[in-house]
Amino acid sequence: MKFGVCYYPEHWPAERWAEDARLMRQAGITYVRIAEFAWQLMEPAEGDFDWAWLDTAIETLAEADLRVVLCTPTAAPPVWMAHAYPDILPVDAEGRALRWGTRRHYCVNSATYRRHTERIVTALAERYGQHPAVAGWQIDNEFGCHDTARCYCDECAAAFRRWLEAKYGTLDALNAAWGTVFWSQIYATWEQVMLPNLLVAIPNPAQVLDYYRFASDSNVAYQQAQLDLLREGVAAEHFITTNVMGDFDELDYHALAHPLDFIAWDSYPTGYAEHVAPQLYPPEEALKESVPEDFAYDVGDPYVTGFYHDVIRGLKQQPFWVMEQQAGHINWGKYNPGVRPGTPRLWAWHALACGADAVLFFRWRACRFAQELYHSGLLRHDGTFDVGYSDLLAMRADAALLDELASAPIEADVALVLDYEDLWAMQLQPHREGFDYRRHLFAFYRAAQRLGVSVDVVSDTADLSRYRLVLTPTAFLADVARAERLTAYVEGGGTLLLGVRSGFKTPENAVPAEPLPGPFRELTGVTVTAWHALPPGVRYPLRAAIPALEGPATLWAEALSPHHEEVEVLARYVGGPFHASAALTSRVVGAGRALTLGWHPTRLQAQALLAHLIGELDIARLADLPRGVIARRRGEATLLLNFTDTALTATVQGALVPVPPRDVVVV
Ligand code: GAL
Ligand code: ZN
Repeated sequence: MKFGVCYYPEHWPAERWAEDARLMRQAGITYVRIAEFAWQLMEPAEGDFDWAWLDTAIETLAEADLRVVLCTPTAAPPVWMAHAYPDILPVDAEGRALRWGTRRHYCVNSATYRRHTERIVTALAERYGQHPAVAGWQIDNEFGCHDTARCYCDECAAAFRRWLEAKYGTLDALNAAWGTVFWSQIYATWEQVMLPNLLVAIPNPAQVLDYYRFASDSNVAYQQAQLDLLREGVAAEHFITTNVMGDFDELDYHALAHPLDFIAWDSYPTGYAEHVAPQLYPPEEALKESVPEDFAYDVGDPYVTGFYHDVIRGLKQQPFWVMEQQAGHINWGKYNPGVRPGTPRLWAWHALACGADAVLFFRWRACRFAQELYHSGLLRHDGTFDVGYSDLLAMRADAALLDELASAPIEADVALVLDYEDLWAMQLQPHREGFDYRRHLFAFYRAAQRLGVSVDVVSDTADLSRYRLVLTPTAFLADVARAERLTAYVEGGGTLLLGVRSGFKTPENAVPAEPLPGPFRELTGVTVTAWHALPPGVRYPLRAAIPALEGPATLWAEALSPHHEEVEVLARYVGGPFHASAALTSRVVGAGRALTLGWHPTRLQAQALLAHLIGELDIARLADLPRGVIARRRGEATLLLNFTDTALTATVQGALVPVPPRDVVVV
């Protein structure tokens, strides 16, 4: 596996660079990512380039035999530009133009910004596109970060209208799709169509979903403009990627990742444990259960970290890079715990176990000034070794094993479907507080992790035929094509588990005209005759024919009524308003089976159901795991990672395997 670091030579005197490069080599680093926020130094005034410092920095790194990941610096428009061209600035949902002084203050649809982007990217490609020390390119930095994926400026409004015109062709089609007859909003000209902000009441959900799609497309198109320039201007062997955020969901990451050579993400386990875990664990469990897992306090939550590693690997179904790996404490969490020896190493192993090709630590040295001065690096402010650096030195002993495993494939029998449009539509009308698309996915994901079952997180437009079991917690927006796709998978021998609210909406974000689950009715063989959101504390008892799958239903319940004779009922409501209705069904279709789950499972219910299905399908469990130990597989190797401070024992194929605290064992 390759190691790297995010380096900001511009934050340090040039006399220090050679020493930094030497220390990087010494720690086994080969890749150095630079320059993603350095536009102003590259172009101090419009059209006036200064490459001297960057030439020297790259030369210095090259002399130490380091390879450079060079970034296009568009995430930080220089102050002169924001000042001279205020039309580049984004407008927030409250209609306010945002100001310069930080980063990401630009609109992807600004024609002016597109022009400046073209100039700097072309110049960079000309200067360094054939440089022997440059290995590849990162476009921009974390598209959408700081709430910038969705802009509400006039150029975006105009672009949105053009986007709608291309999509619908006629206003009649748009009016029908959006249901604008509701509240007297039938549009007579394209100019009347607005962005969905600054509205008196809740916006039309069809309009907002289209706006979300448009905003995502706009970012993807902006990336594509840079990608085209780089592909044209840089050596063919240079890779081109971008770094995304795991938990971010305002961009369709499948679309963003698609044209790139590989995808990369930025992993901050303690930040995710503090900010993201509460959104993924059920509200009632969030406090109760994430803590008693007894992970060491400074390692983050490995289920959450692992979920996003897997989400990212699934974007292209390929190995990925961790472009920024937390190296020590961060500065944007709630408590920002200090990180103890062994933790950065555990994170690097976890990334490898989940399919990372490279791990670049963020950042080289803690910065003495500005916004991130409390963010650690591999080196402390004073240049002495911090925990991350010491861990890297310790990992030199792991190098041979890491390299061997890094080339081994990751294969899973189970797929979990992630669809960004389903997610957006669900966010727009969750109907029941706490019903969250990602949380629903995570219940199944965590269940699989606890069982030691490998999961790929994929779009259902991916080739599903390689999976024995496909879980679609909510295939929300469904049309005939989607139903046919999933039916083909089942007919070909797959087992599909369709969860609640599947088929409840059309791609326009309206309710289908036929009975629910709409286009999935034939495949599932059931009709949803009633659905109830269940407030906290309300439970619908049920009885299941599956061991350990115990009721009640909480959160959300659907009464299922089979309309095909061959539908088998695996669970029923007993008592309550849905008494005697089916709650879980299975129908054989072709060589496979379609199961319909009529309630939102808890993690334990998801685990019982999954255990039953993988048992029936004879899908291998990697290990029997104590709490706090994760099992992953690469090629023939099973990796056991212990995220606790206690020595624990896992069982792999009948053999007891001790796993020391904060450590990894490869079987
Ligand atoms: C990332 C970002 C970096 C840095 C880091 C701090 O999201 O890409 O530039 O700000 O967070 O943790
Ligand atoms: Zn805009």
